[in-house]
Amino acid sequence: MRRGIRAVAAGLVFFFLAAPMVWAQAENANPQKKTGILLVAFGTSVPEAQKALDNIDEKMRAAFPEIPVRWAYTSSMIRKKLTKEGKTLDSPETALSQMMEEGFTHVAVQSLHIIAGEEYHELVRNAELFGRMAGGFERIEVGLPLLGDHYDMEAVAGVILGRIPGDRTASESVILMGHGTEHPANAAYPALMHYLQQKDFNVFVGTVESYPTIQDIMKMLAPKGVQKVYLMPLMAVAGDHARNDMAGDGPDSWKSVLAGARIDAVPILKGLGEYDEIVNIWIDHLREVVKRL
Ligand code: CO
Repeated sequence: MRRGIRAVAAGLVFFFLAAPMVWAQAENANPQKKTGILLVAFGTSVPEAQKALDNIDEKMRAAFPEIPVRWAYTSSMIRKKLTKEGKTLDSPETALSQMMEEGFTHVAVQSLHIIAGEEYHELVRNAELFGRMAGGFERIEVGLPLLGDHYDMEAVAGVILGRIPGDRTASESVILMGHGTEHPANAAYPALMHYLQQKDFNVFVGTVESYPTIQDIMKMLAPKGVQKVYLMPLMAVAGDHARNDMAGDGPDSWKSVLAGARIDAVPILKGLGEYDEIVNIWIDHLREVVKRL
C-alpha cells in the first residue's frame, strides 16, 4: 500500500518536473535538423563481391528516399588495399567527421555486419562518443547487425532455407560459412545452426576462424554418410573468404577438405547482400533507428 502511494507521488513529481522540460524541448526542436544514414560494412576489395554491397545500397536508398546515404568500411586492411587501387573508402570515424562538417544533426548508423561482434561494438562506442562531442550530433544511434535477436535468427534461417538450390535432395547437406571471432558473439553461429536445424537437420553453420570449424562440421556429417554438400557464405559479400577459404582449390579450402573425405562440394558464390529478403532485415533494423532519432 505504502509503496503504491510512493509510486503515485513519484509519478506526480516526475510529471511536474519533466513535462515542462518535454514541452521546452519540443519548442526548441532544431529547425536546422538534418538527418543522414551511414551504412557500415566490413568491406571488400573483390570486384565480383561488390555487387552485394551495390544491391544493399540500391535497396536502402529506395527504402529511405529522403535521407542521404553514406558508406564506410570497418576493415582498415581493405581500405588500404582499395586506396592503392585509387578507390577511397572512409572508416566510420572519417565518415562521421565528414557528416559533422556538413552539418548533419541526426545520424542513423546501420551495421551491415552479421553478428554483434568486435566491429559492431566498436561502432557503437565511437558513435556514442561522436554524440557527446561539443558541436557533435544531436542524436546518433546504431542499428543492430543481421543476427540481432531471436526474430532475426528465425527470419535469417527462413531466408537461407528458401535460397538453397531447388535440386538439392534431403540427404545432401548444406554448410554455411560464417567468419567466426574470438568475441563472445561467436555464439550466434551455433545458435543460427540450431534455428536452421529446427526446420532441416541437414543444414550446418561453420566458421573460418572460430567454432564450429569445418572439422567439427565433418564430425557431424560422418554418421550420416553424406556424399554431397552445398557451401554457402554467411557473409554480406562473397569475397575473399568465400572464394578462397570456402570454394578455392588450395589444400585447406572447405571444398578441398571435403573432397579429401570423398564429399563432393558445390559452392554457391553469393553474398547475403545479394538476397533482397536479407537486405530487408537490415532495412528493418535501420527503420527502427530512424524512428528513434
Ligand atoms: Co577474415
